[in-house]
Amino acid sequence: MQQGIFQPTTLDDVVISNKNAKARLQQIVKAQIPFPDFKIGILLWGVWGTGKTTLAQMLPDLMNEARGGGQANFDYHQCSAMNNGSSLIAKAEQRTWYCSFNKDGLHYVILDEVDNLTDLAQKQLKAWMNRKDVVFILTTNYLPKVDKGVQNRCYLIEMNAAQPNDWLPLAHRVVAAYGGKPVPDNALLPVIADCDGSAREILAKLSEIALDRIDEAA
Ligand SMILES: Nc1ncnc2c1ncn2[C@@H]1O[C@H](COP(=O)(O)OP(=O)(O)OP(=O)(O)O)[C@@H](O)[C@H]1O
Ligand SMILES: [Mg+2]
Repeated sequence: MQQGIFQPTTLDDVVISNKNAKARLQQIVKAQIPFPDFKIGILLWGVWGTGKTTLAQMLPDLMNEARGGGQANFDYHQCSAMNNGSSLIAKAEQRTWYCSFNKDGLHYVILDEVDNLTDLAQKQLKAWMNRKDVVFILTTNYLPKVDKGVQNRCYLIEMNAAQPNDWLPLAHRVVAAYGGKPVPDNALLPVIADCDGSAREILAKLSEIALDRIDEAA
């Protein structure tokens, strides 16, 4: 089975049950609200495995394409405990001093697991977030650990466990991809519910189920 076959490619493929959060994201991507403007960041927050990092890496292309461009250039920074400090933010900021190569003229900066930054580095980030030509895309599992000033400059997009029903289209796609017979919704829903909204768990469990069905049929 090909790697990444179940990876979401459009905003609709990303499973977000919070209707306000999904609507806000669509408005930002389609430039229906001025952005970056009074808010210049998108902060994706929620429990593990719900697709925050995946979505963060999709957003630059989706935004740039909606503004007449193609694939976007973006900088991705993993804020791990090892490089949690001021130097990471200083280097990341320096890269945005130069001209952007994107059609929309924007720099896209992804800071994954932003809560890992020290308090000082988060203050630095807050100061950097007074620009209007940088789009900040941040993710976290721990919203309260993110500086209030940083939060205030962002649209907060909740990505906690989605409703099991919302995963059904992907679930059917997974079963079909393995070549198995369709599994009824009422058999899939409890399995999905057990995964606590983690796409990692959902994809792993559904793959098992799909393969078991093929073995049983053989
Ligand atoms: N809507 C989706 N459809 C298909 N696969 C998805 C979807 N959302 C996430 N995935 C897959 O699930 C896995 C976990 O996603 P990701 O790493 O983005 O989650 P996360 O929210 O960043 O997790 P964590 O909180 O642990 O950092 C990835 O392999 C991703 O491709
Ligand atoms: Mg992540």
